[in-house]
Amino acid sequence: MPEPTQRRATFLGFQPPAIDDEEIDEVVATLRSGWLTSGPKSRELEAAFREYLGVEHALAVSSCTAALHLSLVALGVGPGDEVITSPITWPSTANVIVHAGATPVFADVRPGDLNIDPERVAELVGPRTKAIVPVHFAGAAADLDPLHALGLPVVEDAAHAVETTYRGRKIGGLSATTCFSLYATKNVAGGEGGIIATNSAEVAAAVDALRVMRRSHGSLYDIETVGFKANLSDVLASIALPQLRKIGRHRAIRERHVAAYDAAVAGLDGITPLERDPRDTHAHHLYVVRIAAARAGVTRDEYQRALTEENIGTSIHFLPVHRLTAYRRLLPDQPRLPVAEQAGDEILSLPLSPAHSADDIADAIAALQRVHARFGA
Ligand SMILES: Cc1ncc(COP(=O)(O)O)c(C=O)c1O
Repeated sequence: MPEPTQRRATFLGFQPPAIDDEEIDEVVATLRSGWLTSGPKSRELEAAFREYLGVEHALAVSSCTAALHLSLVALGVGPGDEVITSPITWPSTANVIVHAGATPVFADVRPGDLNIDPERVAELVGPRTKAIVPVHFAGAAADLDPLHALGLPVVEDAAHAVETTYRGRKIGGLSATTCFSLYATKNVAGGEGGIIATNSAEVAAAVDALRVMRRSHGSLYDIETVGFKANLSDVLASIALPQLRKIGRHRAIRERHVAAYDAAVAGLDGITPLERDPRDTHAHHLYVVRIAAARAGVTRDEYQRALTEENIGTSIHFLPVHRLTAYRRLLPDQPRLPVAEQAGDEILSLPLSPAHSADDIADAIAALQRVHARFGA
């Protein structure tokens, strides 16, 4: 294949969905069935997730944000409590701690994979700590054993991590709950949606009571729990079901893209992919590189601008949550988190989707090489 030397003619989307007739047919069948809200398709999706993850309970909800929120409420997290989490995440992870009435405490991350550092977490545990929320960033397993050893409930943010294993064990049943996202860009996409996995019947029952305001029998109704409206529509479950069936096929495509990126960035001084622990299965949700301006010539922001001019879509996962305006206001005396803050200046996510062809990824790589040649020392 000749290497493209020209700017790409059309814009390459960062993470387009990989949807085909299977999803379309399943949605049409659901629409024809007349059942739009949570019903047979959501239950089928829950059963498929239970089997895929090897867990006792999988509950479909409206988003991963809701999954995390309901998990914390089900575990009794409330006012006066602290919950330790990662600053390198989508703000939802911290927002739900605030919504539960508790205070987020951010622990710095490890420089290699940007997952929460268990040693920093251990230093932050105090009498008010009620739970820990690690994030499996980009699809790399967070280091769960030392977190579990602290003896507190762990709620895993597994929005990026459907395929992730930790030291040979599939995530899903390892902690109090594990929360997955079905958002449009995720490895199993439903447009929106989330899954709460747990092996605890008690936690599952509490989450079930919280996710929907249930009617009792007869013409009268009553509620026992002040619940939320966080159930998943069958229309969205009908998109996610074929996605879960195709997870292996989609993974094989993403693995090829990741291998192409690995080979290419190895030759680009100052551009380094995040580390992947060979003991774990990485979900390859994101391909994140760090751009060290001193060696790569210019900053991450300038690389991103130059790639956009090359018609290559990129994204930033993530700016450290504790430095965002809402959290500076809410928690003005927070300590600095040097590893997360440096990463926030350097990280860039390259296009990665099973909807991309090998040529698309070759275009992204050629553009990155051109930009590096232009800016690099
Ligand atoms: C790490 C992480 N946690 C939580 C979420 C929230 O997921 P959802 O959009 O399904 O609420 C996302 C985002 O999409 C995410 O990337």
